[in-house]
Amino acid sequence: MLTQFTHTKDLNNSEILVLLRRANALLRQEARPANLAHKNIIALFFENSTRTIASFQVAASRLQAHFSVFNVQKSSTSKGESLLDTLHNIEAMGVDLIITRHHHSSSAPYFAKHLKCAFINAGSGTLSHPTQALLDLLTLYNHFEGDLEGKTIAIVGDIKNSRVANSNMELLPRFGMKILLVAPPHFLPPTSHPSTHSLAEALESADVVMGLRTQTERHSLQTYGSLKDYAKDFCLTRARLQDRPIPILHPGPVHRNVDIQDALLDDPRSLVLQQVKLGVFLRMALMESLLTA
Ligand code: NCD
Repeated sequence: MLTQFTHTKDLNNSEILVLLRRANALLRQEARPANLAHKNIIALFFENSTRTIASFQVAASRLQAHFSVFNVQKSSTSKGESLLDTLHNIEAMGVDLIITRHHHSSSAPYFAKHLKCAFINAGSGTLSHPTQALLDLLTLYNHFEGDLEGKTIAIVGDIKNSRVANSNMELLPRFGMKILLVAPPHFLPPTSHPSTHSLAEALESADVVMGLRTQTERHSLQTYGSLKDYAKDFCLTRARLQDRPIPILHPGPVHRNVDIQDALLDDPRSLVLQQVKLGVFLRMALMESLLTA
């Protein structure tokens, strides 16, 4: 049984369906959450986070587990201690689960390889953010009542630098979805998925659209005039969507009126806060499964 979750590929489709069903049962109060009162969970985030860390924290508290957030800024890594030594010391204290976020893309598999305790990747450079992809899948699974086969998701924005896009590009096609990438050339990674530079064209065939934040902190050079120029062509707006009845996703944080127009965030088609809500139940299901394995 899996105890370390570094990548969406760590779980096969039937294991993922079990997690989605468990998350829904917890959401609908059809099942009682496991009691993990004796478990110690610690989050080490070397990058900022709002939703993900709070979501893990709320999920852990619903499982009655003890959750602490390690203060990375004040740790001995700033005194020259290696990251691995820091992790080994924390593991030696008897924690049951370590959750990390780090700007290096290879960080999660590297940490997992050197740890014996349970582990969750909460963001590994630009490469992977598997719990976000699972909660996006759950949101879509519920919205389309399990029927994802042949549905096209248009992923719009800074795809090249987005770990959320990367994890979704691996996961969603496994459940029958088609990916359509929509971005200016400098935001498109080399890919086998269909892509276009025209948002209007993409919206004609998309069954769902996912906006992404422009990851300015990851750009070594600015390849566009300004965020305003970018928004002119790629911001999701009511005018562009018109009355198409397609759901709108975004992992957050949202750059309002750059990725998505204010009005669309308040539109009933927006599932942005539903993603956040479902994320808690999905992470509960995942932590239950890793910690009771
Ligand atoms: C993303 C992240 O940090 O990977 N947000 C999230 O976890 N929900 C996306 C981003 O930073 O743009």
